[in-house]
Amino acid sequence: MESLNLIHILLYIMPFYVANSTAMLFGGKTPLDLGKMLSDGKRLLGDGKTFKGTLAGLFLGLLTSLVIAGLFPSYTAELTSSYVLLGFLVSFGALLGDITASFFKRRSRIERGTEVLLLDQLDFVFGALIVGSFIYIPSFYEILFISILTLFVHKASNWIAFKFKLKKVPW
Ligand code: CTP
Ligand code: MG
Repeated sequence: MESLNLIHILLYIMPFYVANSTAMLFGGKTPLDLGKMLSDGKRLLGDGKTFKGTLAGLFLGLLTSLVIAGLFPSYTAELTSSYVLLGFLVSFGALLGDITASFFKRRSRIERGTEVLLLDQLDFVFGALIVGSFIYIPSFYEILFISILTLFVHKASNWIAFKFKLKKVPW
């Protein structure tokens, strides 16, 4: 196992961590699916995926990568010559991964906000990974490290969000 470069990992995850958490912070009224039901009688995505949250996540994820690229140009260049594009792609991917998970949760008749272990915590990571892979493909150990880190960070941040009444449930 080659040693993990924590700075590279941090540069990689910051934009989509911000995208995912600001989607939650700015989560607004109008749902992305506009209330649409599918033939199974369940919502396409549900009320937990909104225009405001999605756009805020995308914008702030991109902004994060712009700020990081401006502050640490030599570090970001070590990771990729297209760091801002990477930031945009992982942010977009994180939101898409989370939205995709909601789609499958509704198809499985799981109500909005009900926790599905691992899926709810890692949907955005794998979305980011896949869409971001056009620019940067993390190593197996980087993926493992990010996944485990995310399980802890997700738990801690959702608990905080719950305590501050930003979320109805602590996950
Ligand atoms: N959110 C949003 N738009 C997104 C993602 C999240 O507005 N694209 C906001 C919503 O207010 C949502 C909250 O962030 O309720 C928490 O996100 P998440 O846990 O992904 O949604 P849930 O409400 O748990 O719904 P689901 O069961 O569909 O995952
Ligand atoms: Mg949830």
